[in-house]
Amino acid sequence: MADAMTAHSPLIDQFGRRISYLRLSVTDRCDLRCSYCMAEQPDFLPRAELLTIEELERLSLAFIARGVRKIRVTGGEPLVRRNVMQLFRKLGEQLGHGLDELTLTTNATQLDKYAADLAAAGVRRVNISLDSLEPDTFARITRRGNLAAVLRGIDAAQAAGLKVKLNTVALKHENASQIPALAEWAHGRGIDLTLIEVMPLGETGEDRFDQYIPLPAIRDQLEQRFTLKDVGRSDDLGGPARYADVAETGGRIGFITPLTNNFCSGCNRVRVTCTGRIYMCLGQDDHIDLRALMRHHLRDDKALQNALDQAMRAKPERHDFAISASGAEPAVARPMSMTGG
Ligand code: 5AD
Ligand code: SF4
Repeated sequence: MADAMTAHSPLIDQFGRRISYLRLSVTDRCDLRCSYCMAEQPDFLPRAELLTIEELERLSLAFIARGVRKIRVTGGEPLVRRNVMQLFRKLGEQLGHGLDELTLTTNATQLDKYAADLAAAGVRRVNISLDSLEPDTFARITRRGNLAAVLRGIDAAQAAGLKVKLNTVALKHENASQIPALAEWAHGRGIDLTLIEVMPLGETGEDRFDQYIPLPAIRDQLEQRFTLKDVGRSDDLGGPARYADVAETGGRIGFITPLTNNFCSGCNRVRVTCTGRIYMCLGQDDHIDLRALMRHHLRDDKALQNALDQAMRAKPERHDFAISASGAEPAVARPMSMTGG
């Protein structure tokens, strides 16, 4: 009886936050090397460390059984994971059966190949990471990327009927001055834009203090060109962004400000890495190894479900990011590509 209760009771942490959103990383690999995200020659994990596609599915179903209604597939770059479409098709079958939304975050370099299949699997929205529309700046930030491929990916996504949102990390020297133009371009195509402050995650070989620009400074710059009207907190409840509507373009700009503004009180999410560790917070090191539990108990999810309860007890109240001094240590050693963006 007690087990049956656990298997179906919602995931609620000790601060009363209901966890309904899972961000699931399917690989730490990426075909780009964004300078704020990873080192130029990263040590990627051996493939045997990764959860299999079947384990990713099993884990997702365990979360859906506990009331998770939204799953975002992330990486690294999820579309470089072999057979990732198999996972999308399987998770897509859960839509309308506990799962309300299946999405992904991608750099779009391969989206022209996958957009139609993603839409067929039930994906309706994608977040695309794009930091510049200027080919040289884009190549410099990504240390290798080809902007044209990304633009083809965006076209393909829109042609497949996927609603596109752009994520842009604000970088003081590289793209800060280009952001108003980027917003205008995106809004012209019916795409909203979310700006993100550089977060101190993982070693990249670059000085984050030198890259960091607070978003209020970007907003000032946007307001020299546009009229911004605040529409308050995120529409998908619990999200960290604050939004403003732009009168001139009819589009919306989101601001994710982990450094200048803490948003943890409404947190509704947990993250699972590509190796099956559940992290209760992007900005903390505390985690539980779900892979070991799944491999130890191949047929029975009881231990896995107990671990989710344990995770709820361990979810911290807030992150404690700070970029205060040049050369400051990352808040956590693992990069975003491990935990999932
Ligand atoms: N700080 C802020 N954003 C980051 N991303 C990756 N690493 C970092 C970081 N250290 C972004 C990606 C993507 C999103 C998922 O996270 O650019 O848009
Ligand atoms: Fe790849 Fe995204 Fe990291 Fe860039 S930010 S290197 S696209 S995972």
